[in-house]
This record gives sequence, C-alpha cells and structure tokens, in this order.
Amino acid sequence: MTGLPAPISLRIAHTEKIAADIHLFELRAADGGALPAFTAGAHITVRSPNGSLRKYSLCNDPAERERYVIAVKRDPAGRGGSVDLVDNTRAGDRVEVSAPHNAFDLAEKAPAFILIAGGIGITPIMAMARHLNGEGRRYKLYYLTRSAEHTAFRDALAGDDFRGKVVIHHDGGDAANAFDLWPILEKPSTAHVYACGPRPLLEAVRDMTGHWSPTAIHFESFVDAGAAARPEDKPFTVVLAKSGDRIVVAPGISILEAMRERGHEAPSSCESGTCGTCRTRLLAGEADHRDLVLMDDEKPGQIMICVSRAVSAEIVIER
Ligand code: FES
Repeated sequence: MTGLPAPISLRIAHTEKIAADIHLFELRAADGGALPAFTAGAHITVRSPNGSLRKYSLCNDPAERERYVIAVKRDPAGRGGSVDLVDNTRAGDRVEVSAPHNAFDLAEKAPAFILIAGGIGITPIMAMARHLNGEGRRYKLYYLTRSAEHTAFRDALAGDDFRGKVVIHHDGGDAANAFDLWPILEKPSTAHVYACGPRPLLEAVRDMTGHWSPTAIHFESFVDAGAAARPEDKPFTVVLAKSGDRIVVAPGISILEAMRERGHEAPSSCESGTCGTCRTRLLAGEADHRDLVLMDDEKPGQIMICVSRAVSAEIVIER
C-alpha cells in the first residue's frame, strides 16, 4: 500500500475494548454529517499516528450514513499499525481514512447466505449480517473464536435481530476442537458462502467447497504482501513481457508494489490474494502461489501478483 488517495479526516467519536485485544472505533465527520456510502463487506484504509496505513472492514450497518465503525485487533506481533492506532489515539482525535472500498461484495441476488467468520474476521461479516437483517434475508452465521473473552460483538449477537441465525464456537486455542464445517458445506446449495478469518480457516473452507460453483464462494483475508512476508523470502526478478522491463522484487513487497514503484499500473482490488482482480498470465518461471483464488490446474500458467512470489530466480508475466 503506497499512499492514501483523497484522504477523509474523521473524528474518533468513541472507542471501546470489546474483547481481548479487540478495540472498537467509531468514526464520524467533524460536522456529524453523512459520510461516503458503503456496502456490506467494504473496508477503509486508516492512517495511524505513526503514518502506518492499514485496512479495516466496516462492521456497522451500511444503512448508517453518519458513522464508520471498525474493530481493530491489537497485534503486538504485527507490523505496528494496530498497536499504534489502539495505544496512541483516543476519543476526540482526528484520523485520516480512505473512502470505503469493497472487494468482498455480497451477491445481492443470492437466495441465502452462509457467513463464516474466524476471530477478527467477524468485522465485514457483522456488516453483512446487519445488512441482511435489515433486508429480512436468509443467512446463517458461524463465528469461530478462541474463547468467550476473544469474541467481539457478543452482546449484539445475543440480540433479537440475530436469534436463531448465529452459531458461536470456541476452540480454546486447540485445533483439535475446531468447528467441523463439513456438514454445512458438504452439499452445495443455492446459498453463497462468505468466509473471512485466518488463513487456515479460509484454506479449510476452500478445500471443502471445491465441488461448489466457484462464483458462490467468497473470501477475504487481511493478509497483504507485507504481512504475508516470510523470513525465508528472497528477492527475485519479474520480467514484464510487453515492455521487457526487468524488476527486482525485494522481500516484504509484492510484485504489484514493485511494478508500481517503476511506474507500471495493473488492476487490483483486495491486494490480499482473495478477489482475483490482479490475475496475470505467467509465461515462464515457477510461481510461489500465496492466493486463495487459483485452482491447481491454473497455477502453472497464472499468478496473483498482489501476494504471490517466485520459486525460480526469474519469472516472466504478461504485463
Ligand atoms: S488484487 Fe485481489 S487477488 Fe490480487
């Protein structure tokens, strides 16, 4: 993420710790007026006091036009943006945010929805459930967390609006106690599935839905190229076939970011390997695929340049 285009300055109207390490922020315009509209599943990018830019899903009902509500997991093991935002801001402060962007849209015409949230992945799913409540649409929400203390929005989800629509499961931090999603996903239906959470949960959902229509399965992860960096990552060269430009991609930045730094643009949306917008033909070399979009038979010839890297010293892509 290289900048914050057309930033909007908002006031932190309210903050509250709503679960272990999860802090809610309510953001409003200084004059209390309407904010740019958003749809369920959208996120905003927030600049924390130290300048870090992080994406946070909006978790309030999109019908609310005068506030954005985000929930931030304070992650000391992260890159510092969440800790800075939680520790160094308070109600009354101003923060700069982007306009909302949605790479995790609800299929409005779907007859029913299966919503699966792991941990802080509940945030876009809350907006979806609230929107669907408002529209009287059919859904079931499966919310998987470590413990009651790690479960944000417990009070809201215990309310009348959500009665009979929510299953909350705690695994106690033990994978052996993970909720079994197979009985829910075994038989494909006309429902659309929306899953947001940690990578292993998304991979489990992907593996259990291989026999569903791919257009009915939707993922969002918060893993951008920097957060997805692995200590063993090495630099590699990406060759852009159309221009012949050769670009070295350093560890910690994505092919997409490296291209942008050299003045090349490419379409993107989620920048976390889940939406498919940056799909690019791979003409030579071997990719290190880190997305949740490509099927196995697509992997030799395509690459998601927002998160994936290279196994070979050099790859050639059709850009
Ligand atoms: S921008 Fe969404 S998969 Fe790359």
